[in-house]
Amino acid sequence: MTYAALEQLEQALLACAACHLRQDAIGPTSYNGTPQSPLAIVGEGPGGVEDEYGVPLVGPSGQLLDKALTSVGVTRDLVYTTNIIKCRPKNNRTPTIEEGQFCALAWLDQELTLVQPKVIVALGSVALKYLLSPTARITKDRGQWFTTKYGIPAIATYHPAYLLRLIGKDLVKAKWEVYYDLKAAVEKCS
Ligand code: URA
Repeated sequence: MTYAALEQLEQALLACAACHLRQDAIGPTSYNGTPQSPLAIVGEGPGGVEDEYGVPLVGPSGQLLDKALTSVGVTRDLVYTTNIIKCRPKNNRTPTIEEGQFCALAWLDQELTLVQPKVIVALGSVALKYLLSPTARITKDRGQWFTTKYGIPAIATYHPAYLLRLIGKDLVKAKWEVYYDLKAAVEKCS
């Protein structure tokens, strides 16, 4: 991976206005963390905080992700984090499959081809549907390894935003599932 190529890609991304999502966002969000990391975490797309800072997963979901990573012995600066969608959809609505495909074909594919992580974690349904199949289901497919079109193994887990909506036993169960998924991903890196 050359930093120059990633830097060039980032500059091109920041100038992107290829679809309607750019009109309602402050700007595209790029990546965060360490490009040489063996572990890449792919989220859905920026929320309000990420749109403001231009960096993925730094808002409430990102903070919960930090805690989950700490529980498996990894800190955020040691992983590479990015998103399927680079511009925040208006009112934080979930991006459509078509929006995800349009954006990821333009940017994420190039990014991951440059970064070449050893393992990918798909965070939530939008990332799973792009990286595995539009018919994939997070409740059915999380925790199971699959091979992405980049030839890189991936595992999906629940998005932290989903956990933030749960309470009681459901929350405890989902937290354990995320723990086991992340642990499996970290172990596969070594
Ligand atoms: N949710 C995501 O999936 N990505 C972000 O960057 C923020 C929230």
